[in-house]
Formats: sequence, structure tokens, C-alpha cells
Amino acid sequence: MEFDRRALIRAAVAARKNAYAPYSHFAVGAALLTKSGRVYTGCNIECASFSPTNCAERTALFKAVSEGEREFSAIAVVGARLDAPDDSLVTSPCGVCRQMLYEFCGGALTVVMAKGEDDWTERRLGELLPLGFGPEKLSDARGE
Ligand code: THU
Repeated sequence: MEFDRRALIRAAVAARKNAYAPYSHFAVGAALLTKSGRVYTGCNIECASFSPTNCAERTALFKAVSEGEREFSAIAVVGARLDAPDDSLVTSPCGVCRQMLYEFCGGALTVVMAKGEDDWTERRLGELLPLGFGPEKLSDARGE
């Protein structure tokens, strides 16, 4: 499915402005596109006890799933230290987010890792999480 990468990246950049990252000083924004064309955004949200921290990608995914969405075609991610210049955004989804995205999106999801609206790298989620363990594996194990 074709989609407007620049618009999705723009939405991720806007979401990054809400990042709550007083501990790492690393701010991330994500924008998740549903197959029906809606966009759900998210930012990272940290915690004084560190481990409950939620990444931007999962914030976007949880918002979308909690609103009834289940089918996604792409996600754009931007991240950098809070004090980094605007054109030096660089990040790729962490392992936990890759796994959580795989749960709902499978390997076909397009992951756009952007430095800016005109500068990005993209991969399918299946390339970022090869041989991923997804819901279908549980049914395979039951012989279904
Ligand atoms: N983070 C994300 O939000 N997404 C990523 O893809 C990488 C890491 C956040 C978690 C934490 O708040 C900060 O960036 C530093 O790891």
C-alpha cells in the first residue's frame, strides 16, 4: 500500500515534542498508520523507577489498539537526544517494540526510520525481526 511518508514522518516529529524523557534526555516520536488511513501518534514516557518507561512506538500502538484498531500498514519513528539539532534525528525501534508491533502487524509492516521529512531509511518489520515469534506460532504448536 502506498502512503505519504513525509506526512507520517511529520506526525512523528510533532508527537516527539510531547516526549517525557527527563532521565535519558532522548526524545522519540512515532506515527502509526492504520490500513484504513488513520494515524495514531505516540511519544516515549519515562518513569523515575525507569523500567515502566514506555517507548513511543508502543504508546502509538496501544492508543490505536485501545481505540479498536487492529490492522496497520506503516509506522514512522524519529528520535534523538533532546539537545540534538533538528536534522540529526536517528532511531530504530527497540527489540520490545519490534516484538509488540509484530503481534499486531506481522512482518509486512513498513517501518520508516527518519532523520527528517526528506531523509529516511525503511525496512519491513520482518527484516528487523527475522523469524519472529507471533500469535500464529501458538496455534501451530496446538497443531491447528
Ligand atoms: N525509546 C523509544 O521511545 N523508542 C525507541 O525506539 C528507542 C528508545 C525511548 C525509551 C527511553 O525513554 C529513551 O528512548 C532512551 O532509551
